Amino acid sequence: MSTIPVLTIDGPSGSGKGTISRALAARLGWHYLDSGALYRAVGLAAAWADIDLSDADALLRCTEESHVQFRQASDPAEEPRILLNGVDATDELRTETAGAAASAIAALPQVRAALTTRQRRARRMPGLVADGRDMGTVIFADAPYKVFLTASADERAQRRYKQLKEKGVSVKLDSLLREIVARDQRDAQRAVAPLMPAADAVTIDTTGLGIAAVIEKVLALLPESLRQR
Ligand code: C5P
Repeated sequence: MSTIPVLTIDGPSGSGKGTISRALAARLGWHYLDSGALYRAVGLAAAWADIDLSDADALLRCTEESHVQFRQASDPAEEPRILLNGVDATDELRTETAGAAASAIAALPQVRAALTTRQRRARRMPGLVADGRDMGTVIFADAPYKVFLTASADERAQRRYKQLKEKGVSVKLDSLLREIVARDQRDAQRAVAPLMPAADAVTIDTTGLGIAAVIEKVLALLPESLRQR
């Protein structure tokens, strides 16, 4: 068992995991793992290579061969640029099309297994904030601090809508809501590593809460010695 502390932040899409996790990592001075970006990258690499989502062997090869790099801006609370096989794919990875492709390949046990070591390698001193769906249940099941963030589907769709609009991506709110609900259902119903809170996770409903309030709630779960950095 590792002594390097991990804070896992799991939850459905649009629950604010990314923003909250990055801010917490910056505040604690810890590393940050965006596990969703790995699944999105493999989904996108499969689309680029025209691989059929039912071809499990080709998808596994694609997972093993995909090279994903995170290029962090000088402000650690900012979103890093993501390079897929050397190409900046940050904007394409954020689209709901990439999210849906990620969710489809994420249901395959071989793909999940192939990404396990890559994710565990992110556990480095002085600590790690890990954002995803199965961080607390599978990848870092021994983590000392676990959070599950939720919010109503309407609010999550609104947040995603705002986020995508700010990035210049044109989307319709009603179709976004439908896509998010469908993706959550698929993530929650799959046989391997389904979206669910770990038995020892603290669930925080962020509906109607601002980012700062959620960050304070999560920080309150950590020992004083870590908070006072
Ligand atoms: O978090 P994000 O929306 O970027 O994740 C995209 C998709 O990747 C999710 O809908 C889910 O299917 C998959 N995923 C996963 N396990 C993780 C992170 C993401 O299955 N730890």
